[in-house]
Amino acid sequence: MPEFTTAREVISFGKKFSKEELVRSMRFSVAAEYEAIQIYELILEATDNTHVKAVVQDIINEERLHAWQFLDLLSELVPEEKAINESGAKENKERK
Ligand SMILES: [Fe+2]
Repeated sequence: MPEFTTAREVISFGKKFSKEELVRSMRFSVAAEYEAIQIYELILEATDNTHVKAVVQDIINEERLHAWQFLDLLSELVPEEKAINESGAKENKERK
């Protein structure tokens, strides 16, 4: 089974995923989207070029959407994980 610690491992896997491998690839993809957001936010902080900042901000917004889309797919593949996520969100609201 691939480690899914780099994008290359996902690309070079070379066969169709089992369900477990698909789940792991979704988790990796969520992490990759948030890593991209971190990198793009550093670009925002590092430039005063307003056009670049505007485009990069749009890209960040898209990456946020992608992260949630992968999380939604993960919930679809692992319904019990959705229940855990909802439980965590409920706990957070109770602590406000
Ligand atoms: Fe993305």
